[in-house]
Amino acid sequence: MNLNSLYILLHIISAVIWVGGMYFAYMCLRPVAASQLEPPQRLRLWVGVFDKFFPVVWVSVVLLPLTGYVMIFSIWQGFAATPLYVHLMNGIGTLMILIYMHVYFTPFARLKKAVAAEQWPAGGEALAQIRKLVGLNLSLGLLVIVIAGGGRYFV
Ligand code: HEM
Repeated sequence: MNLNSLYILLHIISAVIWVGGMYFAYMCLRPVAASQLEPPQRLRLWVGVFDKFFPVVWVSVVLLPLTGYVMIFSIWQGFAATPLYVHLMNGIGTLMILIYMHVYFTPFARLKKAVAAEQWPAGGEALAQIRKLVGLNLSLGLLVIVIAGGGRYFV
């Protein structure tokens, strides 16, 4: 078996779990939680949800660039011959990873602290920041999937 088939499999599964998870959280869980739960229950729910989701996202944000760079060197022997759609995926993907890390270390850390101290307004502010950044990352993720999936047919 060509090892690239293993790399692309890990790469695509990582992308599907990360972007699909953001879609479910942003488009499905968020509006229902906002309309049905009071701040204490809602903020506790999100800490629990992120505590389950973020460890998996850490695995994805390591596997995506790792498998991506291994494929770049194995298929094109480096960046010089790599097609434009892969450069775009690398650039936007790296931006997504930096945004995720910022979410994890800044507003998510604030959300956890606020919930532990039962400071609901501070928790609400941190959650609002996470919502904006996850909305941005979801849009970028869908764009990368269009570029990655369609790229070879356009160039
Ligand atoms: C972070 C740096 C990244 C690098 C260096 C990278 C690199 C690559 C490479 C080399 C391929 C194989 C392309 C081919 O064989 O034509 C690929 C495929 C793919 N990548 Fe990425 N990628 C990155 C991030 C991402 C992200 C963040 C996503 C999704 C959110 C993503 C989604 C995909 C998909 C869906 C494919 C399959 C495309 C296809 O074969 O039709 N990648 N990537």
